Amino acid sequence: MTNENLTILAIETSCDETAAAVVRGGTQVLSNVVASQIEQHRRYGGVVPEVASRQHILAMETVIAEALVGVPAGWDGIQAIAATYGPGLSGALLTGLNTAKALAFARGLPLIGVNHIEAHIYANWIEAGGQGLGARDQEELLLTHDPHSLTPTFPLIALVVSGGHTLLALLEGHGRYTLLGQTLDDAAGEAFDKSARLLGLGFPGGPAIEQAAKGVQTGMLLPRAWLRNTYNFSFSGLKTAVLHQVQAHNSREAEASIARGQGSGARAQDDAPLHPTPQPLTRDPFTAQIAHAFQESVVDVLVSKAVEAARAHSATEILLAGGVAANGRLRDELVRRSPVPVRFPPISLCTDNAAMVAAAAFYRYEAGRQSDWHLDVQPNLRLA
Ligand code: KG4
Ligand code: ZN
Repeated sequence: MTNENLTILAIETSCDETAAAVVRGGTQVLSNVVASQIEQHRRYGGVVPEVASRQHILAMETVIAEALVGVPAGWDGIQAIAATYGPGLSGALLTGLNTAKALAFARGLPLIGVNHIEAHIYANWIEAGGQGLGARDQEELLLTHDPHSLTPTFPLIALVVSGGHTLLALLEGHGRYTLLGQTLDDAAGEAFDKSARLLGLGFPGGPAIEQAAKGVQTGMLLPRAWLRNTYNFSFSGLKTAVLHQVQAHNSREAEASIARGQGSGARAQDDAPLHPTPQPLTRDPFTAQIAHAFQESVVDVLVSKAVEAARAHSATEILLAGGVAANGRLRDELVRRSPVPVRFPPISLCTDNAAMVAAAAFYRYEAGRQSDWHLDVQPNLRLA
């Protein structure tokens, strides 16, 4: 067996998705199984670490068994086992890494520890054709990867935007990263989630804000933190601006209803009580305007800095990665303003999954970067 066909079973448990996938040659997805815990966490308005760990343990065996169904030779078709070892929630990471260690030891297979941020970037190496991708993923890949359908060539700029991370990195080869800049406070996805909560739009906030903003053309303008001459980001001021807008709107509503002789109709705020059930998507004009203004502000800053980095480093392409890469407005604006082609994974591979972990593991293994049994979780692991 040549390395090129090396088939890896990967496990991902860094946050609230229990995922397992089998990928051949770093690009062909044979199976991709994700058990989401969103329903377990929604009532708390965010991810509860203890709940996440317990759910991973409950779901793990079934998720792995299901992933193996996609491999005709079963276990005999697997040549290495990979798992995310950081960054992420320590208890959650432990469940996946220890499972991977036990399986690799029992089967006599190599173990490959993977950095979760690197994995998000490597979702861009996955190609159409693998039977483990759904019809929609195949279609998205064929549409977005054409005409540069081959795997990316270096040097590349990666814009990683997820719930836990927001950074710009220069990639000069497999595993060779230079961190150009990162968020100084909230991650972009975190800002989406917190602002959605302020607007009573539920969890996770990214898709809810994108949906609420649809169809709005212009209107309110929210601030942008430019942090000039750096590739750093800051989103906490924007979140505060959303809070102030919501408070001002609530005061106006309360005054209007008092004038009409009714009670006040305040909406959710930062100290809102736990949500027992998901909030319905409110599409009143105020919510739509502010969701739109928020999204425009985040997208403008992310796109401007990514484009600047691509120019400064003569990148061949910009790779978009992480959960926020699912955002249609971000994708469109980056494509529109970038001087070089932009690549992004199909929506289902933007948010946490194990196919991206297997893809990253393939290139690590090829570079001789196999892990040993002492590998431990690193909740604060960095990309570079
Ligand atoms: O990569 P991911 O699944 O988990 C982390 O590693 O953090 O990212 C989750 C984040 C959440 O904050 C979620 O609100 C955001 O990605 N997200 C989006 C969209 N879909 C998911 N943000 C904006 N627009 C979307 N369509
Ligand atoms: Zn992630």
